[in-house]
Amino acid sequence: MPGIQAGEGEKRRSLHGHWSSRMAFILAVTGSAVGLGNIWKFPYVAGQNGGGAFVLVYLVCVLLIGMPVMMSEILIGRRGRRNPIATMALLGEEEGSSPRWRLIGGMGVLAGILILSYYSVIAGWTLAYAFKSVSGSFAGAGPAEISAHFAEFVSSWELVGLCHTLFMSLTILVVARGVERGLERAVRFMVPALLVLMLALLGYSINSGFFGEGLAFMFTPDFGKLTGDSVLAAMGQAFFSLSIGMGAIMAYGAYLPEETSIMGTSAAVVTADTLIAILAGLMIFPLVLANGLDPAEGPGLVFHTLPLAFGQMTGGVLFATLFFVLLSFAAWTSAIGLMEPAVAWVVEHRHRSRAEAAMIIGVLIWALGFGSVLSFNVLSDITFIKGTIFDNFDHLTSNIMLPLSGVFIAIFAGWIMCRNSTAEELGGAGRLYRLWRMLARFVAPVGILLVFLKAIGLLPELS
Ligand code: TRP
Repeated sequence: MPGIQAGEGEKRRSLHGHWSSRMAFILAVTGSAVGLGNIWKFPYVAGQNGGGAFVLVYLVCVLLIGMPVMMSEILIGRRGRRNPIATMALLGEEEGSSPRWRLIGGMGVLAGILILSYYSVIAGWTLAYAFKSVSGSFAGAGPAEISAHFAEFVSSWELVGLCHTLFMSLTILVVARGVERGLERAVRFMVPALLVLMLALLGYSINSGFFGEGLAFMFTPDFGKLTGDSVLAAMGQAFFSLSIGMGAIMAYGAYLPEETSIMGTSAAVVTADTLIAILAGLMIFPLVLANGLDPAEGPGLVFHTLPLAFGQMTGGVLFATLFFVLLSFAAWTSAIGLMEPAVAWVVEHRHRSRAEAAMIIGVLIWALGFGSVLSFNVLSDITFIKGTIFDNFDHLTSNIMLPLSGVFIAIFAGWIMCRNSTAEELGGAGRLYRLWRMLARFVAPVGILLVFLKAIGLLPELS
């Protein structure tokens, strides 16, 4: 195993091993990006925020903010080759600023822990739905039955807690096994398989008779519905869905071979992630409208819509099972990424083995997760600021912590790192490099700040 400290003139290597190929890296980052964020969260948040205009703002955020921030994260990660905290400290010094940039890495590690605590709970629902599907629970069921089924399920904290426990155990297992053996294998077949199944579902939803209405809901912008909060939600969703703003992509970048193109990789990942989110919307909204469901009903949306569709189609039991199993896989590969920064940090700074680190962090996250487990039953009446404990964890992380780190990451890559360093990582100072630099220096930080200002009501209304 190579040491972390590079000698003079020698390139730094990561302590945790390297991706075996460029494809492995693309798969791993795509696996972390594609997850519940695309299929569970995107449709329900879009639904809560009125559809069209939200989707448009989301796409603009992905392009103008998400893309440059993702590139910045990868390049910072590859240059530092350590866990996000150590990398930010090291580069902060190396670039003549301060090691205090480590705080940004620290906020990312914390965000990952908080996100995974509720992410695992929803992933647990997905596992439960895979079991329910295979036992034929949804065959022929109508909207009322499916809703009752969901309500009954989430009202049992024991059951939800059990599924959360199962999911966290699976995650700890893979993370404990290390970068190449664990992460790569888990990702390789999942994304393509999920895509195929989603296309099949799209076919079903095109036949639902409400496809036009679904399309209109998603793509006809009504800017009257665009409050400061929904603009913030769209930006937060872009960060969440692309897995950026918390050092996860930085941690993955640390294992990236020297010669791989950061721009090409980012473009591929951003495209795949966005397509899958849009596809999820296109398969869900026609079904929501066809069955008279409420697009704004919240986190239960896909768990109401899809079982309904599966229940009515031929071969539904098989499709439903496959779908929820694949979605659990997608959640699993994301969960691994959410844990990686914290685990890499414990390994390097607390001198634990990878397995011990995964265990310590995993148990902490598992315990925190009970805040969200209970948000849907025992503690569902305890609401403050943005709603239940779950709602607040989600809002604090996606809409505040991730974009806030995003500002600093963009500023770090755009202003603190010298031109030579970033140009070297991005493969020369051509036109695309200059475009990235402008986005990282100006557009992303200013854009994020404007959205924050709008959300706290300091900007005038658009319409
Ligand atoms: N992008 C993941 C999803 O859409 C969730 C996520 C957010 C994530 N931040 C992350 C995954 C960091 C891995 C690493 O489901």
